[in-house]
This record gives sequence, C-alpha cells and structure tokens, in this order.
Amino acid sequence: MSNRFRDAEVLLEVQNLKQYFGSMRANVKAVDDVSFQIHKGEVLGVVGESGCGKTTTGRSIIKLYDITGGKVIFNGETITVGIPELKIKLKEARKNGNKEEVARLKKEIKEGKHINKTHTSRDINKIQMIFQDPVASLNPRMTVREIIAEGLTIRGIKDKEYVNKRVLEMLDLVGLVPEHADRYPHEFSGGQRQRIGIARAIVLEPELIIADEPISALDVSIQAQVINLLNELREKMGLTIMFVAHDLSVVKYFSDRIAVMYFGKIVELADADELFANPCHPYTKSLLSAIPFPDPHYEKKRKRIIYTPELDHDYSAEGPSLREVSPNHFVYCNTAEMEKYQAEMK
Ligand SMILES: Nc1ncnc2c1ncn2[C@@H]1O[C@H](COP(=O)(O)OP(=O)(O)OP(=O)(O)O)[C@@H](O)[C@H]1O
Ligand SMILES: [Mg+2]
Repeated sequence: MSNRFRDAEVLLEVQNLKQYFGSMRANVKAVDDVSFQIHKGEVLGVVGESGCGKTTTGRSIIKLYDITGGKVIFNGETITVGIPELKIKLKEARKNGNKEEVARLKKEIKEGKHINKTHTSRDINKIQMIFQDPVASLNPRMTVREIIAEGLTIRGIKDKEYVNKRVLEMLDLVGLVPEHADRYPHEFSGGQRQRIGIARAIVLEPELIIADEPISALDVSIQAQVINLLNELREKMGLTIMFVAHDLSVVKYFSDRIAVMYFGKIVELADADELFANPCHPYTKSLLSAIPFPDPHYEKKRKRIIYTPELDHDYSAEGPSLREVSPNHFVYCNTAEMEKYQAEMK
C-alpha cells in the first residue's frame, strides 16, 4: 500500500519547530528542530518513548506555548512564529554588522509578533486536541452536555436549541446515548470518557485532530473500540489526524505515515509500510523489536534490540541531519550511515 495522501494538499506544515523550557540556553530541549508535513486526510503517527517531546509538539502546534523557534503553517497560513530564536539571530547579525540581515530579521520579528498575537482562537479551533488523560482533561463539575457545548458557547453560539441538537448529534457519533448528556464524567468508564473527549473535539468541526495517546490509559479491549471510532470519524468527517503513541504496534494499522521521535528530534519518517519493511535508524529498530508477535517460534527468536546512541553512532567526523535515504523515507543520519542504510534496503 502506498500513501494515498501524498499528492493531497498540505494541511499542516511544521518548520524547524523548537520548544525549549527555561531559557534559550537551558538544557530541556523538549522539541529540537522538528519539521514535518501532514496532508489533508492523512493520519500521521508519532511514536517515541516517554519524554521525547510528543505532547510538547502537539501543544506547540495548538499554541498552548510561545514556541522558541521555527514556524507552524496551517492551511497555507502561518499561525505561530518562534520569536526567541529570531532575537538571538538578530543579536548575531548586529554583532557581525550585517545590515541587510538585521533589517530582514527585524521585519520578521515584527510580523511574527503580530501573527502570534492577532491570530484569534477562531482559527485555532480548526485544530483540536484529544488529551492523553481522559480523567484529568474533563472538568468533573460539568455535565457531559456542558463539556461538549462549551466550545460552541465560547464561539458565541447562543441558540440553545441548536447547541442541544449538536450535543446529541455528537453523542450519537461517538457511540453514546442522549441519556448520557446530563451525567458527570466520574459516572463513566475510561473508554466512555475518551469518547466524551472526542465529542468535545469534533463538535467544533476541526480539520486537524491531534490525538495525544488517546488510548494508552485504556484497557486493551477498549483500545480497539476507540481506534475504530477514530477511523470511522476520519472517513465521515474527512479528518486529518496526528496520532501520538508510545509504541509502534498501535499506530501500525492506523497511520499512513509514521514519525519516530527520540529526545526532541525526529529520527525517522516514512510511510507506515515502508517503516516496517525497511527500518533504518537503530532507535526505530529497537522499537520494532519490542513488539510481540503471536507466533511462538518468532517469539522464541525475538531479541530485544537496545538502542545505545554512544555505541550505535560515530559522529566524530560528521554530525547527523534528517536525510532522504530513499524516496519519501527520511532518517536522521550522516553520510556514512546513509550509505549503509541504502545498502541494507530491500
Ligand atoms: N511545561 C514544561 N516545563 C518544563 N519542562 C517540560 C514541560 N513540559 C514538558 N517538559 C519536558 O519536556 C520533555 C518532553 O515532554 P513531553 O511531555 O512532550 O513528552 P512526551 O513524549 O509526550 O512523553 P509521554 O509519552 O510520557 O507523554 C520532557 O523532558 C519533559 O520533562
Ligand atoms: Mg505525552
């Protein structure tokens, strides 16, 4: 299966996104120079271990942070610009006496500030996030009706009958019933709560959903149900989805493309089937080796590959960057590694 969305319009473009916590020079580079695109209708899976920056990437896209560097473009329009990095570049350009660069950067900073400030919540509504923890993300004092209706109310919709109709429609879409509307979140199971979270996200008719580990807090038996629901909604509503998960087995069947993150960086990005057929980066290989397979012979032979950056790479002569090792297959590597990966490809 090749990626049927490759030629579709680009809906989200993340360019050199940096999100550092503390100061620009601080050590927590939660997201460090990450670039990717998501096409209309596509599901991009983002995987990586705890703390690698998946949630931060999502939160940066929906403007919950002022990003440190880079740019986010949605539907062809820049929605976020990283000012701190531009300011540092400006300082350097001033020191070097590069007048043209100073003028250019000044202009960019001014425009960026304007974009970051004036872009209203209305546009950002087109991107909705489903959160990792369905318990913490639902206000326990609000009924399901109030939770789902909140976004509409904030948008200034006052027609009660219309709001009510939409709430019931959403409940139906996510597989809940009208009687659920007047109950409180604690009266629901984990899976049902995540359905409420999904209803709250889709009532605003978003174009892009960032689903941040929407199933990792759920029982295995419920996980499949929620995945199926997202799949259905994707078809019905033409949604584009960024789907964040810990491990590859979850995103395999759901994603058109997969980005593997390690310590704030994308280390591999390819179509889902290509990533499974030709994993290149040793970290991707280690993630793959962690997936159990329902075959006792295979399981006996299955060896966990442990990724050890100091041993797996030699970057003394040349550092790594994200390179296209084969068409549409990107790996964070240097020239020597790229040649090795290409030789190993099937
Ligand atoms: N608000 C914050 N202030 C300071 N550091 C933060 C903040 N949010 C996240 N971090 C740090 O940034 C890094 C990335 O965190 P993030 O939550 O994005 O990881 P994640 O990939 O979503 O992990 P998980 O799979 O556990 O959800 C971590 O080192 C985290 O401690
Ligand atoms: Mg997270």
